[in-house]
Amino acid sequence: MADHDINGPVSDTASLSIGEQRAVLPVLSGTLGPDVVDIRKLTAETGLFSYDPGYGETASCRSAITFIDGDKGVLLHRGYPIEQLATGASFIETAYLLVYGELPGREEYLRFQQDLKEQALLHEQIRNFFNGFRRDAHPMAILCGTVAALSAFYPEAVDISNEASRDLSTRRLIAKVPTIAAWAYKYTVGEPFVYPDNSLSFSESFLKMLFARPNAEYKVNPVLARAMDRILILHADHEQNASTSTVRLVGSTGANPFACVAAGIAALWGPAHGGANEAVLGMLAQIGTKENIPAFIEQVKNRESGVRLMGFGHRVYKNFDPRAKIMEQTYLEVVAELGLEQDPMFDLAAELERIAVNDPYFVQRRLYPNVDFYSGLILKAMGIPTSMFTVLFAVARTVGWISQWREMIEEPGQRIGRPRQLYVGQTERAFTPLDARG
Ligand code: ACO
Repeated sequence: MADHDINGPVSDTASLSIGEQRAVLPVLSGTLGPDVVDIRKLTAETGLFSYDPGYGETASCRSAITFIDGDKGVLLHRGYPIEQLATGASFIETAYLLVYGELPGREEYLRFQQDLKEQALLHEQIRNFFNGFRRDAHPMAILCGTVAALSAFYPEAVDISNEASRDLSTRRLIAKVPTIAAWAYKYTVGEPFVYPDNSLSFSESFLKMLFARPNAEYKVNPVLARAMDRILILHADHEQNASTSTVRLVGSTGANPFACVAAGIAALWGPAHGGANEAVLGMLAQIGTKENIPAFIEQVKNRESGVRLMGFGHRVYKNFDPRAKIMEQTYLEVVAELGLEQDPMFDLAAELERIAVNDPYFVQRRLYPNVDFYSGLILKAMGIPTSMFTVLFAVARTVGWISQWREMIEEPGQRIGRPRQLYVGQTERAFTPLDARG
Protein backbone atom coordinates (compact mmCIF):
# COMPACT_ATOMS: atom_id res chain seq x y z
CA MET A 1 0.00 0.00 0.00
CA ALA A 2 1.36 3.43 -0.97
CA ASP A 3 2.53 5.85 1.72
CA HIS A 4 0.98 9.26 1.72
CA ASP A 5 2.65 12.64 1.66
CA ILE A 6 0.83 16.00 1.79
CA ASN A 7 1.55 16.20 -1.95
CA GLY A 8 0.06 12.84 -2.90
CA PRO A 9 0.73 9.12 -2.72
CA VAL A 10 4.37 8.06 -2.47
CA SER A 11 4.42 5.19 -4.94
CA ASP A 12 8.09 4.32 -4.82
CA THR A 13 11.52 5.65 -3.97
CA ALA A 14 14.42 6.65 -6.18
CA SER A 15 17.98 6.37 -4.98
CA LEU A 16 20.80 8.61 -6.05
CA SER A 17 24.43 7.71 -5.41
CA ILE A 18 27.14 10.34 -5.51
CA GLY A 19 30.49 8.87 -4.49
CA GLU A 20 29.94 7.42 -1.06
CA GLN A 21 26.71 9.33 -0.52
CA ARG A 22 23.30 7.85 -1.18
CA ALA A 23 20.02 9.78 -1.09
CA VAL A 24 16.69 7.98 -1.09
CA LEU A 25 14.05 10.20 -2.62
CA PRO A 26 10.28 9.63 -2.63
CA VAL A 27 8.50 9.16 -5.95
CA LEU A 28 5.08 10.86 -5.98
CA SER A 29 2.14 9.85 -8.14
CA GLY A 30 -0.53 12.15 -9.49
CA THR A 31 -3.84 11.03 -10.95
CA LEU A 32 -2.52 11.04 -14.54
CA GLY A 33 0.84 11.48 -16.20
CA PRO A 34 4.39 10.62 -15.17
CA ASP A 35 5.35 10.19 -11.52
CA VAL A 36 7.81 12.72 -10.14
CA VAL A 37 10.95 12.29 -8.05
CA ASP A 38 10.56 14.53 -5.02
CA ILE A 39 13.91 16.27 -4.62
CA ARG A 40 12.92 18.68 -1.86
CA LYS A 41 15.28 16.95 0.58
CA LEU A 42 18.08 16.52 -1.98
CA THR A 43 20.12 19.48 -0.76
CA ALA A 44 19.65 18.65 2.92
CA GLU A 45 20.76 15.06 2.33
CA THR A 46 23.56 15.59 -0.21
CA GLY A 47 24.46 19.30 -0.30
CA LEU A 48 23.68 19.25 -4.06
CA PHE A 49 21.14 21.13 -6.12
CA SER A 50 19.46 19.80 -9.24
CA TYR A 51 20.22 21.52 -12.56
CA ASP A 52 17.41 21.95 -15.11
CA PRO A 53 17.66 25.18 -17.16
CA GLY A 54 14.28 25.92 -18.75
CA TYR A 55 12.64 23.57 -16.20
CA GLY A 56 11.88 21.08 -18.96
CA GLU A 57 12.23 18.11 -16.60
CA THR A 58 10.87 19.74 -13.47
CA ALA A 59 7.36 19.75 -12.02
CA SER A 60 7.23 23.18 -10.39
CA CYS A 61 3.92 22.66 -8.62
CA ARG A 62 0.98 20.37 -7.96
CA SER A 63 -2.00 21.30 -10.05
CA ALA A 64 -5.51 19.96 -10.61
CA ILE A 65 -6.45 22.31 -13.45
CA THR A 66 -5.08 21.09 -16.78
CA PHE A 67 -3.60 17.81 -17.96
CA ILE A 68 -1.69 17.35 -21.23
CA ASP A 69 -0.49 14.11 -22.80
CA GLY A 70 1.56 15.31 -25.73
CA ASP A 71 2.12 11.86 -27.23
CA LYS A 72 -1.54 10.98 -27.27
CA GLY A 73 -2.75 14.48 -28.20
CA VAL A 74 -4.80 14.83 -25.01
CA LEU A 75 -5.72 18.12 -23.32
CA LEU A 76 -8.07 17.99 -20.34
CA HIS A 77 -9.39 20.89 -18.29
CA ARG A 78 -10.51 19.67 -14.86
CA GLY A 79 -10.83 16.25 -16.52
CA TYR A 80 -12.94 17.35 -19.49
CA PRO A 81 -11.44 16.86 -23.01
CA ILE A 82 -10.85 20.15 -24.82
CA GLU A 83 -12.79 18.86 -27.85
CA GLN A 84 -15.94 18.46 -25.71
CA LEU A 85 -15.56 21.87 -24.10
CA ALA A 86 -14.88 23.64 -27.40
CA THR A 87 -17.91 22.11 -29.09
CA GLY A 88 -20.32 21.92 -26.13
CA ALA A 89 -19.50 24.77 -23.73
CA SER A 90 -19.17 28.52 -23.98
CA PHE A 91 -16.03 30.41 -23.02
CA ILE A 92 -17.79 31.61 -19.86
CA GLU A 93 -18.62 28.04 -18.82
CA THR A 94 -15.03 27.01 -19.53
CA ALA A 95 -13.76 29.96 -17.48
CA TYR A 96 -16.00 28.97 -14.57
CA LEU A 97 -14.76 25.39 -14.82
CA LEU A 98 -11.11 26.41 -14.80
CA VAL A 99 -11.51 28.84 -11.92
CA TYR A 100 -13.83 26.84 -9.65
CA GLY A 101 -13.10 23.24 -10.63
CA GLU A 102 -16.62 22.18 -11.73
CA LEU A 103 -18.93 23.11 -14.57
CA PRO A 104 -21.51 25.65 -13.38
CA GLY A 105 -25.16 24.73 -12.84
CA ARG A 106 -27.66 27.01 -14.60
CA GLU A 107 -28.01 29.37 -11.61
CA GLU A 108 -24.25 29.60 -11.09
CA TYR A 109 -23.73 30.17 -14.78
CA LEU A 110 -26.22 33.00 -14.98
CA ARG A 111 -24.83 34.66 -11.86
CA PHE A 112 -21.25 34.36 -13.14
CA GLN A 113 -22.23 35.72 -16.55
CA GLN A 114 -24.09 38.64 -14.95
CA ASP A 115 -21.13 39.43 -12.67
CA LEU A 116 -18.79 39.51 -15.64
CA LYS A 117 -21.14 41.82 -17.51
CA GLU A 118 -21.25 44.18 -14.56
CA GLN A 119 -17.48 44.13 -14.23
CA ALA A 120 -16.75 44.66 -17.92
CA LEU A 121 -16.87 48.45 -17.72
CA LEU A 122 -13.60 50.18 -16.96
CA HIS A 123 -13.27 52.99 -14.44
CA GLU A 124 -13.58 56.17 -16.53
CA GLN A 125 -10.21 57.32 -15.23
CA ILE A 126 -8.66 54.40 -17.11
CA ARG A 127 -9.64 56.10 -20.38
CA ASN A 128 -7.06 58.75 -19.53
CA PHE A 129 -4.33 56.15 -19.47
CA PHE A 130 -4.75 55.52 -23.16
CA ASN A 131 -4.01 59.15 -24.03
CA GLY A 132 -0.57 58.74 -22.53
CA PHE A 133 0.41 56.16 -25.14
CA ARG A 134 1.64 56.94 -28.64
CA ARG A 135 -0.89 56.04 -31.32
CA ASP A 136 1.58 53.58 -32.82
CA ALA A 137 2.12 51.80 -29.49
CA HIS A 138 1.95 48.02 -29.71
CA PRO A 139 -1.38 46.91 -28.20
CA MET A 140 0.49 44.41 -26.00
CA ALA A 141 2.36 47.34 -24.41
CA ILE A 142 -0.95 49.09 -23.74
CA LEU A 143 -2.54 45.91 -22.38
CA CYS A 144 0.39 45.08 -20.12
CA GLY A 145 0.63 48.58 -18.68
CA THR A 146 -3.10 49.07 -18.23
CA VAL A 147 -3.71 45.69 -16.56
CA ALA A 148 -0.90 46.46 -14.08
CA ALA A 149 -2.54 49.86 -13.51
CA LEU A 150 -5.80 48.18 -12.42
CA SER A 151 -4.00 47.55 -9.10
CA ALA A 152 -4.16 51.30 -8.51
CA PHE A 153 -7.95 51.25 -8.88
CA TYR A 154 -8.63 48.27 -6.66
CA PRO A 155 -6.27 48.61 -3.68
CA GLU A 156 -8.23 45.98 -1.73
CA ALA A 157 -6.85 43.40 -4.19
CA VAL A 158 -3.55 43.69 -2.33
CA ASP A 159 -5.12 41.61 0.44
CA ILE A 160 -4.69 38.28 -1.25
CA SER A 161 -5.43 36.42 1.98
CA ASN A 162 -9.10 37.41 1.68
CA GLU A 163 -11.06 34.84 -0.35
CA ALA A 164 -13.83 37.28 -1.34
CA SER A 165 -11.24 39.78 -2.53
CA ARG A 166 -9.50 37.08 -4.60
CA ASP A 167 -12.82 36.17 -6.15
CA LEU A 168 -13.67 39.77 -7.00
CA SER A 169 -10.25 40.27 -8.59
CA THR A 170 -10.78 37.06 -10.59
CA ARG A 171 -14.06 38.31 -12.04
CA ARG A 172 -12.70 41.80 -12.62
CA LEU A 173 -9.76 40.47 -14.58
CA ILE A 174 -11.76 38.07 -16.77
CA ALA A 175 -14.29 40.83 -17.50
CA LYS A 176 -12.06 43.87 -17.91
CA VAL A 177 -9.13 42.46 -19.91
CA PRO A 178 -11.30 42.16 -23.09
CA THR A 179 -12.40 45.78 -22.74
CA ILE A 180 -8.80 46.96 -22.31
CA ALA A 181 -7.75 44.76 -25.25
CA ALA A 182 -10.45 46.15 -27.54
CA TRP A 183 -9.69 49.73 -26.49
CA ALA A 184 -5.97 49.17 -27.11
CA TYR A 185 -6.92 48.31 -30.69
CA LYS A 186 -9.35 51.22 -31.08
CA TYR A 187 -6.72 53.60 -29.77
CA THR A 188 -4.09 52.49 -32.28
CA VAL A 189 -6.50 52.86 -35.22
CA GLY A 190 -7.80 56.21 -33.97
CA GLU A 191 -11.42 55.12 -33.51
CA PRO A 192 -13.63 55.95 -30.52
CA PHE A 193 -13.83 53.43 -27.70
CA VAL A 194 -16.91 51.19 -27.72
CA TYR A 195 -18.34 50.23 -24.33
CA PRO A 196 -19.25 46.63 -23.41
CA ASP A 197 -22.81 45.67 -24.36
CA ASN A 198 -24.62 43.70 -21.65
CA SER A 199 -27.29 42.51 -24.08
CA LEU A 200 -24.66 40.41 -25.85
CA SER A 201 -22.66 37.32 -24.95
CA PHE A 202 -19.04 37.66 -23.84
CA SER A 203 -17.60 37.04 -27.32
CA GLU A 204 -20.28 39.05 -29.11
CA SER A 205 -19.64 42.05 -26.88
CA PHE A 206 -15.90 41.68 -27.43
CA LEU A 207 -16.35 41.66 -31.22
CA LYS A 208 -18.58 44.70 -30.97
CA MET A 209 -15.99 46.57 -28.88
CA LEU A 210 -13.40 45.73 -31.54
CA PHE A 211 -15.35 46.50 -34.68
CA ALA A 212 -18.37 48.75 -34.03
CA ARG A 213 -18.20 52.40 -35.04
CA PRO A 214 -20.60 55.09 -33.86
CA ASN A 215 -21.59 56.07 -37.40
CA ALA A 216 -22.93 52.66 -38.47
CA GLU A 217 -25.06 49.89 -37.08
CA TYR A 218 -22.99 46.87 -36.05
CA LYS A 219 -24.55 43.45 -36.17
CA VAL A 220 -22.52 40.63 -34.70
CA ASN A 221 -22.08 37.77 -37.16
CA PRO A 222 -22.98 34.59 -35.18
CA VAL A 223 -20.42 32.46 -37.07
CA LEU A 224 -17.65 34.91 -36.15
CA ALA A 225 -18.87 35.13 -32.54
CA ARG A 226 -18.77 31.33 -32.29
CA ALA A 227 -15.29 31.30 -33.82
CA MET A 228 -14.11 33.90 -31.31
CA ASP A 229 -15.61 31.93 -28.42
CA ARG A 230 -13.78 28.80 -29.62
CA ILE A 231 -10.49 30.62 -30.02
CA LEU A 232 -10.86 31.85 -26.44
CA ILE A 233 -11.73 28.36 -25.14
CA LEU A 234 -8.80 26.76 -26.97
CA HIS A 235 -6.33 29.25 -25.51
CA ALA A 236 -7.76 29.49 -21.98
CA ASP A 237 -5.14 27.37 -20.22
CA HIS A 238 -2.21 25.14 -21.09
CA GLU A 239 -0.68 23.92 -17.85
CA GLN A 240 2.68 25.30 -16.66
CA ASN A 241 3.79 27.18 -19.80
CA ALA A 242 6.15 30.17 -19.61
CA SER A 243 3.54 32.87 -18.94
CA THR A 244 1.63 30.75 -16.41
CA SER A 245 4.83 29.89 -14.60
CA THR A 246 5.62 33.61 -14.59
CA VAL A 247 2.25 34.40 -13.01
CA ARG A 248 2.87 31.73 -10.37
CA LEU A 249 6.39 32.96 -9.64
CA VAL A 250 5.32 36.59 -9.30
CA GLY A 251 2.26 35.50 -7.30
CA SER A 252 4.43 33.46 -4.93
CA THR A 253 5.84 36.73 -3.60
CA GLY A 254 2.37 37.83 -2.52
CA ALA A 255 2.01 40.38 -5.35
CA ASN A 256 -1.56 41.38 -6.19
CA PRO A 257 -3.37 39.50 -9.00
CA PHE A 258 -3.39 42.46 -11.42
CA ALA A 259 0.40 42.74 -11.18
CA CYS A 260 0.71 38.95 -11.59
CA VAL A 261 -1.44 38.89 -14.73
CA ALA A 262 0.46 41.88 -16.15
CA ALA A 263 3.64 39.82 -15.69
CA GLY A 264 1.96 36.93 -17.52
CA ILE A 265 1.10 39.28 -20.39
CA ALA A 266 4.74 40.39 -20.56
CA ALA A 267 5.87 36.75 -20.78
CA LEU A 268 3.28 35.94 -23.44
CA TRP A 269 4.45 38.85 -25.56
CA GLY A 270 7.68 37.06 -26.51
CA PRO A 271 7.65 35.58 -30.03
CA ALA A 272 8.66 32.16 -28.70
CA HIS A 273 5.40 31.98 -26.75
CA GLY A 274 2.46 33.96 -28.08
CA GLY A 275 3.78 35.12 -31.43
CA ALA A 276 3.63 31.98 -33.60
CA ASN A 277 0.28 32.70 -35.26
CA GLU A 278 1.57 36.11 -36.29
CA ALA A 279 4.64 34.35 -37.74
CA VAL A 280 2.38 32.11 -39.87
CA LEU A 281 1.02 35.16 -41.67
CA GLY A 282 4.52 36.58 -42.08
CA MET A 283 5.59 33.29 -43.66
CA LEU A 284 2.62 33.28 -46.07
CA ALA A 285 3.44 36.85 -47.09
CA GLN A 286 7.03 35.81 -47.67
CA ILE A 287 6.02 32.81 -49.82
CA GLY A 288 3.73 35.06 -51.82
CA THR A 289 2.21 32.68 -54.38
CA LYS A 290 1.50 28.97 -54.76
CA GLU A 291 4.29 28.56 -57.32
CA ASN A 292 6.83 29.46 -54.63
CA ILE A 293 5.69 26.75 -52.20
CA PRO A 294 7.98 23.92 -53.43
CA ALA A 295 11.08 26.15 -53.17
CA PHE A 296 10.02 27.26 -49.69
CA ILE A 297 9.45 23.67 -48.55
CA GLU A 298 12.92 22.74 -49.83
CA GLN A 299 14.33 25.63 -47.83
CA VAL A 300 12.53 24.40 -44.70
CA LYS A 301 13.88 20.87 -45.18
CA ASN A 302 17.43 22.18 -45.44
CA ARG A 303 18.45 22.48 -41.79
CA GLU A 304 21.28 24.85 -42.70
CA SER A 305 18.71 27.47 -43.77
CA GLY A 306 17.30 27.77 -40.27
CA VAL A 307 13.84 28.32 -41.82
CA ARG A 308 10.92 26.50 -40.21
CA LEU A 309 7.43 25.91 -41.41
CA MET A 310 5.61 28.16 -38.99
CA GLY A 311 2.43 26.73 -37.50
CA PHE A 312 3.76 23.17 -37.76
CA GLY A 313 5.14 21.05 -34.94
CA HIS A 314 4.81 21.43 -31.19
CA ARG A 315 7.11 21.08 -28.21
CA VAL A 316 4.59 18.97 -26.30
CA TYR A 317 2.16 17.49 -28.85
CA LYS A 318 4.17 15.01 -30.88
CA ASN A 319 1.32 13.37 -32.83
CA PHE A 320 -1.32 16.00 -33.13
CA ASP A 321 -2.48 19.09 -31.31
CA PRO A 322 -6.10 18.39 -30.22
CA ARG A 323 -6.85 22.11 -30.41
CA ALA A 324 -5.73 22.27 -34.04
CA LYS A 325 -8.49 19.92 -35.24
CA ILE A 326 -11.22 22.13 -33.80
CA MET A 327 -9.44 25.24 -34.99
CA GLU A 328 -9.27 23.84 -38.52
CA GLN A 329 -13.00 23.14 -38.51
CA THR A 330 -13.70 26.66 -37.21
CA TYR A 331 -11.35 28.12 -39.82
CA LEU A 332 -13.25 26.39 -42.62
CA GLU A 333 -16.56 27.69 -41.23
CA VAL A 334 -15.25 31.27 -41.07
CA VAL A 335 -13.73 31.16 -44.56
CA ALA A 336 -17.01 29.78 -45.99
CA GLU A 337 -19.12 32.35 -44.10
CA LEU A 338 -17.00 35.22 -45.40
CA GLY A 339 -16.69 33.76 -48.91
CA LEU A 340 -12.90 33.75 -48.76
CA GLU A 341 -12.27 30.35 -50.37
CA GLN A 342 -10.82 31.98 -53.48
CA ASP A 343 -8.86 34.64 -51.59
CA PRO A 344 -5.22 34.19 -52.67
CA MET A 345 -3.85 34.09 -49.12
CA PHE A 346 -6.29 31.46 -47.81
CA ASP A 347 -5.86 29.48 -51.01
CA LEU A 348 -2.08 29.64 -50.52
CA ALA A 349 -2.44 28.45 -46.90
CA ALA A 350 -4.61 25.49 -47.98
CA GLU A 351 -2.10 24.47 -50.65
CA LEU A 352 0.87 24.81 -48.29
CA GLU A 353 -0.86 22.62 -45.73
CA ARG A 354 -1.80 20.02 -48.38
CA ILE A 355 1.78 19.79 -49.62
CA ALA A 356 3.33 19.69 -46.13
CA VAL A 357 1.08 17.02 -44.62
CA ASN A 358 1.87 14.72 -47.55
CA ASP A 359 5.61 15.36 -47.58
CA PRO A 360 7.72 12.54 -46.05
CA TYR A 361 9.92 15.08 -44.20
CA PHE A 362 6.95 16.26 -42.11
CA VAL A 363 5.23 12.86 -41.92
CA GLN A 364 8.37 11.12 -40.60
CA ARG A 365 8.95 13.81 -37.98
CA ARG A 366 5.29 13.80 -37.00
CA LEU A 367 4.95 17.49 -37.76
CA TYR A 368 1.32 18.53 -38.18
CA PRO A 369 -0.40 21.90 -38.23
CA ASN A 370 -0.67 23.27 -34.71
CA VAL A 371 -3.33 25.54 -33.23
CA ASP A 372 -1.42 28.62 -34.39
CA PHE A 373 -1.50 27.64 -38.04
CA TYR A 374 -5.29 28.04 -38.09
CA SER A 375 -5.80 30.67 -35.40
CA GLY A 376 -3.71 33.22 -37.32
CA LEU A 377 -5.73 32.53 -40.46
CA ILE A 378 -9.07 32.79 -38.67
CA LEU A 379 -8.15 36.08 -37.02
CA LYS A 380 -6.90 37.45 -40.33
CA ALA A 381 -10.17 36.40 -42.00
CA MET A 382 -12.12 38.17 -39.24
CA GLY A 383 -10.24 41.38 -39.98
CA ILE A 384 -8.15 41.39 -36.81
CA PRO A 385 -4.70 42.92 -37.39
CA THR A 386 -1.67 40.77 -36.62
CA SER A 387 -0.51 43.09 -33.84
CA MET A 388 -3.69 42.07 -31.96
CA PHE A 389 -3.17 38.31 -32.21
CA THR A 390 -1.18 37.98 -28.99
CA VAL A 391 -3.59 40.37 -27.29
CA LEU A 392 -6.47 37.97 -28.03
CA PHE A 393 -4.37 35.12 -26.68
CA ALA A 394 -3.93 37.15 -23.48
CA VAL A 395 -7.69 37.74 -23.20
CA ALA A 396 -8.22 33.97 -23.24
CA ARG A 397 -5.22 33.06 -21.08
CA THR A 398 -6.22 35.51 -18.35
CA VAL A 399 -8.64 32.78 -17.25
CA GLY A 400 -5.84 30.21 -16.97
CA TRP A 401 -3.47 32.63 -15.26
CA ILE A 402 -5.97 33.63 -12.60
CA SER A 403 -7.07 30.01 -12.03
CA GLN A 404 -3.48 28.93 -11.54
CA TRP A 405 -2.74 31.93 -9.32
CA ARG A 406 -5.72 31.07 -7.09
CA GLU A 407 -4.70 27.43 -6.89
CA MET A 408 -1.21 28.45 -5.82
CA ILE A 409 -2.38 30.95 -3.18
CA GLU A 410 -4.78 28.37 -1.75
CA GLU A 411 -2.12 25.65 -1.54
CA PRO A 412 -1.20 24.93 2.11
CA GLY A 413 2.45 25.69 2.81
CA GLN A 414 2.86 27.75 -0.36
CA ARG A 415 6.40 29.24 -0.53
CA ILE A 416 8.06 31.98 -2.52
CA GLY A 417 9.50 30.66 -5.78
CA ARG A 418 13.27 30.89 -5.54
CA PRO A 419 15.33 28.76 -7.96
CA ARG A 420 19.04 28.20 -7.36
CA GLN A 421 21.91 28.30 -9.86
CA LEU A 422 25.10 26.67 -11.03
CA TYR A 423 27.54 29.54 -10.52
CA VAL A 424 30.19 29.80 -13.27
CA GLY A 425 31.56 33.30 -12.56
CA GLN A 426 34.76 34.53 -10.92
CA THR A 427 35.80 33.02 -7.65
CA GLU A 428 36.43 35.47 -4.81
CA ARG A 429 39.02 38.16 -5.58
CA ALA A 430 40.19 41.36 -3.92
CA PHE A 431 38.74 44.75 -4.92
CA THR A 432 41.16 47.24 -6.51
CA PRO A 433 40.32 50.98 -6.05
CA LEU A 434 39.68 52.95 -9.30
CA ASP A 435 42.96 54.93 -9.07
CA ALA A 436 44.95 51.71 -8.86
CA ARG A 437 43.23 50.13 -11.90
CA GLY A 438 44.97 52.32 -14.51
N1 ACO B 1 9.53 23.14 -39.69
C1 ACO B 1 10.51 22.33 -40.15
N2 ACO B 1 11.12 21.40 -39.38
C2 ACO B 1 10.70 21.28 -38.13
C3 ACO B 1 9.67 22.07 -37.61
C4 ACO B 1 9.07 23.03 -38.44
N3 ACO B 1 8.08 23.80 -38.01
N4 ACO B 1 9.46 21.73 -36.31
C5 ACO B 1 10.34 20.75 -36.04
N5 ACO B 1 11.08 20.46 -37.15
C6 ACO B 1 12.09 19.41 -37.29
C7 ACO B 1 13.33 19.72 -36.48
O1 ACO B 1 14.28 20.43 -37.26
C8 ACO B 1 13.80 18.32 -36.15
O2 ACO B 1 14.38 17.79 -37.31
P1 ACO B 1 15.61 16.72 -37.18
O3 ACO B 1 15.02 15.51 -36.52
O4 ACO B 1 16.03 16.49 -38.59
O5 ACO B 1 16.64 17.38 -36.33
C9 ACO B 1 12.50 17.55 -35.94
O6 ACO B 1 11.52 18.24 -36.72
C10 ACO B 1 12.06 17.46 -34.50
O7 ACO B 1 11.80 18.76 -34.03
P2 ACO B 1 12.22 19.29 -32.62
O8 ACO B 1 13.32 20.26 -32.82
O9 ACO B 1 12.42 18.18 -31.64
O10 ACO B 1 10.93 20.03 -32.20
P3 ACO B 1 10.87 20.93 -30.94
O11 ACO B 1 10.02 20.23 -29.95
O12 ACO B 1 12.21 21.36 -30.48
O13 ACO B 1 10.19 22.23 -31.52
C11 ACO B 1 8.61 23.81 -32.10
C12 ACO B 1 8.85 22.46 -31.40
C13 ACO B 1 9.54 24.89 -31.49
C14 ACO B 1 7.17 24.22 -31.88
C15 ACO B 1 8.91 23.63 -33.60
O14 ACO B 1 8.10 22.62 -34.13
C16 ACO B 1 8.74 24.91 -34.40
O15 ACO B 1 9.64 25.73 -34.44
N6 ACO B 1 7.55 25.09 -35.03
C17 ACO B 1 7.26 26.29 -35.76
C18 ACO B 1 6.86 27.42 -34.82
C19 ACO B 1 5.45 27.24 -34.28
O16 ACO B 1 4.51 26.98 -35.00
N7 ACO B 1 5.33 27.40 -32.96
C20 ACO B 1 4.03 27.33 -32.28
C21 ACO B 1 3.91 26.13 -31.44
S1 ACO B 1 2.24 25.99 -30.85
C22 ACO B 1 2.13 27.00 -29.53
O17 ACO B 1 3.09 27.47 -29.04
C23 ACO B 1 0.76 27.34 -29.02
